[in-house]
This record gives sequence, structure tokens and C-alpha cells, in this order.
Amino acid sequence: MGIGRAIVTALEDEARKQGALTIYLGADDEIGNGETSFANVDLYEDFPGKIKNFIPGTHQSGFYLKLGYKIIGVMPDANGIGKPDIYFGNKE
Ligand SMILES: CC(C)(COP(=O)(O)OP(=O)(O)OC[C@H]1O[C@@H](n2cnc3c(N)ncnc32)[C@H](O)[C@@H]1OP(=O)(O)O)[C@@H](O)C(=O)NCCC(=O)NCCS
Repeated sequence: MGIGRAIVTALEDEARKQGALTIYLGADDEIGNGETSFANVDLYEDFPGKIKNFIPGTHQSGFYLKLGYKIIGVMPDANGIGKPDIYFGNKE
């Protein structure tokens, strides 16, 4: 319904006003067998290739990608084996 976008846009506007250069965020892929293509794979192997072919599935990653955020990193196994924390950033 546009509520998520409105909240993030308000945060970005305020951060910009206060002189922030960029926003970083982490999105845990921790549910069940995982939601994104980063779940249950070896993220130490060809991570650039995995970013290029990233599939968000039902995960909130799709929301952040829609808002212009880019994947800037990952913490493998942050929430248990095969359950990473995915890092996004936006410099716009
Ligand atoms: C993720 C969340 C904030 C999105 O809020 P929302 O109000 O549904 O988002 P919006 O309606 O503003 O969506 C903005 C755009 O992102 C898209 N979008 C929203 N959720 C999406 C998802 N899970 N996957 C792909 N796209 C998504 C919308 O379709 C919309 O696209 P459009 O501009 O083409 O219409 C909300 O689902 C939520 O609170 N989830 C539970 C908590 C959570 O995941 N928080 C984030 C923790 S890191």
C-alpha cells in the first residue's frame, strides 16, 4: 500500500537534511529453508557471481531493490548455517 516506501523516503529525506552521505541496512534471510538465492549456498565461493544472479524470492530484499538499494555485502551464516544477513546500501 506504499507505506514501506513512504517510511524509507521520510528516513532518507531526514538523513539527507542532517548531512548523511549514504544509508546502509541489513536484511536477515533467516526463515525456514531460506527465501533468497543467498540461503543455503556457499557464499565464500564466487560471491560477485551470486550478487549478479541474486533472486530475492518473497524476501524483503525485493522491496529494497525496488527502492534503489544495491547489495554491498553479506555476513554468511549470521542467523545459523545457510542463513545470511544481506547488506544493502544507497548513495542517492
Ligand atoms: C518490507 C515492508 C517494509 C514493505 O512495505 P510495503 O508497505 O509493503 O511496501 P510498499 O507498498 O511501499 O512497496 C514499495 C514497492 O516495493 C514492492 N515490494 C514490497 N514488498 C516487496 C517484496 N517483499 N518483494 C518484492 N517487491 C516488494 C512493492 O510492490 C512496491 O513496488 P511498486 O513501487 O512497483 O508498486 C513490509 O512488508 C514489512 O514491514 N515487512 C515485515 C518487516 C520487514 O521485513 N522489515 C524489513 C526488515 S530488514
